[in-house]
Amino acid sequence: MAIRERSIDADGRRMAWLEAGAGWPVMLLHAFPMNADMWRPQLGAVPSGWRFIAPDLRGFGQTPFPYGTEAKTPSLDDYASDVGCLMDALELDSAVIGGLSMGGYVTFALFRQSPARFAGMILADTRPQADTPQAREGRRGLREVLQRDGPSGVAEQMLPKLLSERTHRERPDVVDHARRIAASNRSRAIDAALVAMMDRPDSTADLERISCGTLVIAGDHDAVTPVPDAASMQQAIPRSSLTIIPDAGHLSNLEQPEAFSKAVSDFLFAHL
Ligand code: MLT
Repeated sequence: MAIRERSIDADGRRMAWLEAGAGWPVMLLHAFPMNADMWRPQLGAVPSGWRFIAPDLRGFGQTPFPYGTEAKTPSLDDYASDVGCLMDALELDSAVIGGLSMGGYVTFALFRQSPARFAGMILADTRPQADTPQAREGRRGLREVLQRDGPSGVAEQMLPKLLSERTHRERPDVVDHARRIAASNRSRAIDAALVAMMDRPDSTADLERISCGTLVIAGDHDAVTPVPDAASMQQAIPRSSLTIIPDAGHLSNLEQPEAFSKAVSDFLFAHL
């Protein structure tokens, strides 16, 4: 399936995205430190009647940084309102909206801003909780790695956690792909996202208010957001189901693209 590279300029800002298919819209928000390229396997297999749209969040991929004229460091709320602005520009009142990991954090922020935009929700390898003090300490360390070694240093530091041991052992192509995407991002975007994630609020209290059909996905070997956490999150969301992806770590959509795409497609046809 053809993947189209798009961008839009509005109010002095440029936002880029990848899209494929035609029909009911599905917004897919990328993880950290990735960009829209991580969704290429899903964009290549869009089910008939659907249109998948994968934005590059502020400064990642083809979306520039600085973004617009603001001097302040963006928050996850800013990323979320960028996605809302893109939906407005594309004249989409609502969509199935979801993301993987940091993309899930942005999904929660967008839900708080405008729940009516959600025709459905996909929460993959993500969690509603804010950072623990230990996680915040880890992010401060990663900012130092970034200053010292740049985006490829961050990629090397994170890859062992992002992919399962089996993927590391048996799928060098997937490891290289993830490494290339991570290392291609701008230092300033990576740094801003680290600060934004450190400062994000706890979304746990919002879960019971999610009234749209929701799919929770988790790689069975996800070391960042483990399956028991995904299961508790799913149990707190009224109209939700959980799909565990076998032989996958945190980047389950890249590690097992067919199983991930099937889970999404089954959800879209069953619930919407
Ligand atoms: C991600 O995959 O987006 C990150 O692992 C999220 C995080 O570091 O909390």
